[in-house]
Amino acid sequence: MELNTLYYGDNLTILRKYIPDESVDLIYLDPPFNSNASYNILFKEQSGEQSAAQITAFEDTWHWTSESERAFQEIVNTAPATVVLLMRALREVFPRSDMMAYLTMMCIRLLELKRVLKSTGSLYLHCDPTASHYLRIVLDAVFGKENFQNEIIWRYRRWPAKSKRFQKMHDVILFYSKSVEHTFCTLYGYEQLAESTLKTFGTKKQVADFSSGHRKPGRLEEETLGPPLSDVWEIGILAPMAKERVGYRTQKPEALLERIIKASSKEGDTVLDPFCGCGTAVVAAHRLKRNWIGIDITHLAISLMKWRLKTNFPDIAFSVVGEPVDLAGAEALAKENRYQFQWWALSLIGARPFGDKKKGADTGIDGFLFFNDAGETKKAVVSVKSGKVGVSQIRELIRVVEREKAEMGFFLTLKTATAPMKEEAAEVGFYLDSFGNKYLKLQIFTIEELLKGKQPETPQKIGPFHSFSNKNKTKKKNKKNNTFRTTLI
Ligand SMILES: C[S@@+](CC[C@H](N)C(=O)[O-])C[C@H]1O[C@@H](n2cnc3c(N)ncnc32)[C@H](O)[C@@H]1O
Repeated sequence: MELNTLYYGDNLTILRKYIPDESVDLIYLDPPFNSNASYNILFKEQSGEQSAAQITAFEDTWHWTSESERAFQEIVNTAPATVVLLMRALREVFPRSDMMAYLTMMCIRLLELKRVLKSTGSLYLHCDPTASHYLRIVLDAVFGKENFQNEIIWRYRRWPAKSKRFQKMHDVILFYSKSVEHTFCTLYGYEQLAESTLKTFGTKKQVADFSSGHRKPGRLEEETLGPPLSDVWEIGILAPMAKERVGYRTQKPEALLERIIKASSKEGDTVLDPFCGCGTAVVAAHRLKRNWIGIDITHLAISLMKWRLKTNFPDIAFSVVGEPVDLAGAEALAKENRYQFQWWALSLIGARPFGDKKKGADTGIDGFLFFNDAGETKKAVVSVKSGKVGVSQIRELIRVVEREKAEMGFFLTLKTATAPMKEEAAEVGFYLDSFGNKYLKLQIFTIEELLKGKQPETPQKIGPFHSFSNKNKTKKKNKKNNTFRTTLI
């Protein structure tokens, strides 16, 4: 099994194809919650604020389909009796419902995850109260109720909203081990002390005083470890301007993942995240010197993770499985899913995807590539084509570049560009940067060229998911030329 690897694809297929029995020490999974909404990825605006630019990363709405029926039958035919009895009972209660579709999809994957877990391993399933009670009985059936370790409440604070019930301010993390022999390192600390209190008291830790029957601040001790951590964790959600934020809406804080990894694995162990999104678990595992495996079903997540890993650890070596490596692979991806192809193609030049593919109007923009010209952030519009191409599409890109007041335009195509297309592009002339360097304003690349390493010529490129903290000068300019606010959903 290849370690430190990102896999593109459905985790059920990947687990079955690549991950051997009893090979993983810790699994963290943060699957879609069945909250009946689309999880969207939000990219930041140039000003650093959350942009309205939304790209549907994945749907978390589950419906009963022939796929669910097939998975259900597979569970009935192959799973241990307790699991089959439970799933049959659940189906009686929720016949062919969305919840049943969700639980079936989760159950078949949990069985596979148990298979790849070592006997000393643990699994942490991150969910919320929408389905946590159902998932817990499924986990009891799959792992055995004696292997239930904790229901961890991750409590966070956020802006309250008026409603006719109490504010929802926690997620649930269900912690199961594969056996009683599981790896566990007790962590110590004070959950309740605010950062400001710790600052005031330096390295001293405050011991609670319960003598009155209530918790009161007690004496200060030097360098105490604090009590063993409880199952209620108070860790802040990512602030809008947090340094680690990469723009993935469901991104979890690294502190949360670090805690799980430190508690249930050792250096050199293998951590698997089969729903890894923007790769928080993978980044935390790498930082803590664990090996890791990440799986995600969108190229958006895979490109984001690649960028995040390289930005966090410039010397990192890792593999990616499932991305096209040649023209035939690129053609197959385009045929299978046009949007996945676009996201992947944009990642070849480090461009940022743009617009909601399902809901958005056709803006003629598939992505943006940002670059730095003497301290100012400038942009190029990127257009990606997988079908037949012609000179009219180059003319369209020229119009979009003008409309968006972009400095340059890049046309990425699976098919070879014709001579009239190249002539039309050459006519547009050059972008002259602040140092007098000339760059072709409109550049055309075939996917084959990009696969061979060709790259757009621009001044210094800025990473695709970089959070922009621009100078006032640039902000003002963006207000005038307000692409991000006005043209997006
Ligand atoms: C809630 S997000 C995970 C967020 C992640 N914990 C983070 O901090 O970025 C769930 C992820 O699961 C992925 N996903 C959904 N279904 C999947 C499947 N069947 N196989 C692999 N990945 C899947 C989605 O693309 C999404 O990125």
